[in-house]
Amino acid sequence: MKRTFLFFLLTSFLFPVSSQEWELIWEENFDVDGVVDSTVWSNEYGFVRNNELQWYQPQNAYCKNGLLIIEGKHKKVKNPHYDVNSNDWRKKRDYASYTSSSINTRGKQEFLYGRIEVKAKIPTQTGAWPAIWTLGREMEWPSNGEIDIMEYYRINGIPHILANAAWGTNQRYHAKWKSQAIPFQKFLEKDPNWTDKFHLWRMDWDEDYIRLYLDNELLNEISLKETLNDKLGNYKNPFKQPHYILLNLAIGGDNGGEPNPEEYPIQYQVDYVKVYQKKSPTKLTKIETGELWPDNRGIHINAHGGGVIFHEGKYYWYGEHKSSHTSSAQVGITCYSSTDLVNWTYEGVALAVSDNSESEIVKGSVMERPKVIYNSKTNKFVLWFHLELKGKGYSAARYGTAISDKPTGPFKYIGSSRVNPGIYPENLPKSYRNKVYPESISSNWWTPKWRKAVEQGMLNLKDIKEGQMSRDMTLFIDTDGKGYHIYSSEENLTLHIAELSEDFLSHTGRYIRLFPGGHNEAPAIFKKDKTYWMITSGCTGWDPNEARMFSAPSIWGPWKQHDNPCIGPKAELTFESQSTYILPIQGKKDAFIFMADRWKPHNQIDSRYVWLPIQFDKKGKPFLEWIVSWNPNSFFDK
Ligand code: GAL
Repeated sequence: MKRTFLFFLLTSFLFPVSSQEWELIWEENFDVDGVVDSTVWSNEYGFVRNNELQWYQPQNAYCKNGLLIIEGKHKKVKNPHYDVNSNDWRKKRDYASYTSSSINTRGKQEFLYGRIEVKAKIPTQTGAWPAIWTLGREMEWPSNGEIDIMEYYRINGIPHILANAAWGTNQRYHAKWKSQAIPFQKFLEKDPNWTDKFHLWRMDWDEDYIRLYLDNELLNEISLKETLNDKLGNYKNPFKQPHYILLNLAIGGDNGGEPNPEEYPIQYQVDYVKVYQKKSPTKLTKIETGELWPDNRGIHINAHGGGVIFHEGKYYWYGEHKSSHTSSAQVGITCYSSTDLVNWTYEGVALAVSDNSESEIVKGSVMERPKVIYNSKTNKFVLWFHLELKGKGYSAARYGTAISDKPTGPFKYIGSSRVNPGIYPENLPKSYRNKVYPESISSNWWTPKWRKAVEQGMLNLKDIKEGQMSRDMTLFIDTDGKGYHIYSSEENLTLHIAELSEDFLSHTGRYIRLFPGGHNEAPAIFKKDKTYWMITSGCTGWDPNEARMFSAPSIWGPWKQHDNPCIGPKAELTFESQSTYILPIQGKKDAFIFMADRWKPHNQIDSRYVWLPIQFDKKGKPFLEWIVSWNPNSFFDK
């Protein structure tokens, strides 16, 4: 937040707020006392840039009596990053004198255009530098774009309220600014008690303008015509991408000025954050297969490797939140809802990654292929996903579970495990159970001897004690209410189907192996009449391959393999996608949607969805045909 200042005259004319044209799409009222909601907010850690006075601490931000309180305190705290006893030059940074907090909605609540309103009471004491701002989600600062809806600090010792936007130049970390800095005195002249009151900061943002208001008074207007980045920022307009919101209180720093410890502690209080968008954004009428799929905010849906359930009149879609720079979990598992399967409303993060490095679901772990099922006996929504521990590649091969009372969460993480430790699969013949395989077989992959041993359960036996590996997975509830966990096991070579306990939170111990050595991933299953159909992929990482299809008269088999169900161009690559789930449409007979992901491993946030209707040939065998665009509500009525 470094800047040079332009002093402008205060443009003060009132703007009418017409509530009709705006639709509230998200609000945060800080209604639950205690820590801030981690499905919405992430904490910033560390020092304020160029300032060694202050340390951001999560505990300085909390909710009380319907307010977010960010406290600024004067207290020496140890910097956890450096060892006090070392001779490191950074030793001088061992202690920070002031603490405060900075929270942001990155990845969790992002918006493209609309109105953002924040009602807050700001601290104006010495050193205080409170801010309400947004940053664009792509690119490095400032080419990502910064909008300061509110900043308060001293310029040459004189307090000001600022409203700014910044974007990229050809010099790294150097921004172009359009700033307004209004002497704080102007506000005090109008209302001597200004400081004791809550005020309303607002941004109205569309494809043409960013307008920043304080108590309905326009402070700054930025035309998007002038906000193009230079070459370093790819000539992009950083204000034509989703932005996330930051609320923070800095103390001191390049702008806050020297704090007087006697004025501390101080409080920055936020009553609410509300986001509106123009009513009736163009309703989608069709699924455009493999294209960008905008949600209610106009942002491409971010729910990959997912699954969908139907509950009390609504569909809920859960999936992996993906970011642009890594495939690991940076945010968690997201949830969207819909009544027509075409228009989806963002419901937020259902299960958030943790900031705690001790947690199994710490940011940077792998949380893939989430599936939710509803348990009507316990009245709980149960979430399962493939978990890999941070920094351990894909070696943990565990399933994780979480639980919620509401379909939209927040889900509470329960824990992770391998499957059915100590238990043999039902269909592994007794004569294979005690076999001991010599190193010469187990370490010489892909030899005929090794393949035979895999088929006979060598990799299953290797994990009997610890439990079976569980990577790509799905869940299925049968017509009799029983639940099943279907997962890639045995180093992805063999699929397993395992029965779930009554509460859907663990396994009963009953499980079978399917197609040993068959290398099946991405299982998706449905039942039509009395037949179970399963579609899977081969194992080629993020690259697409040819789908496989299987059927059985009972979940326990016998399972038989059919040809690739895809027909038409790119059928041999499943239309450049990989299966994730099969969704039965409510109220329509034999209507199922095949859901698949078209991965973009170098920019996963741009991965696409390939949703196609499952069609049946004259013999009742399912097939998948590429359709450019279609509507699931009318397609099956033909
Ligand atoms: C795919 C799998 C994905 C992910 C990926 C990692 O084969 O289906 O869910 O695990 O490998 O490379």
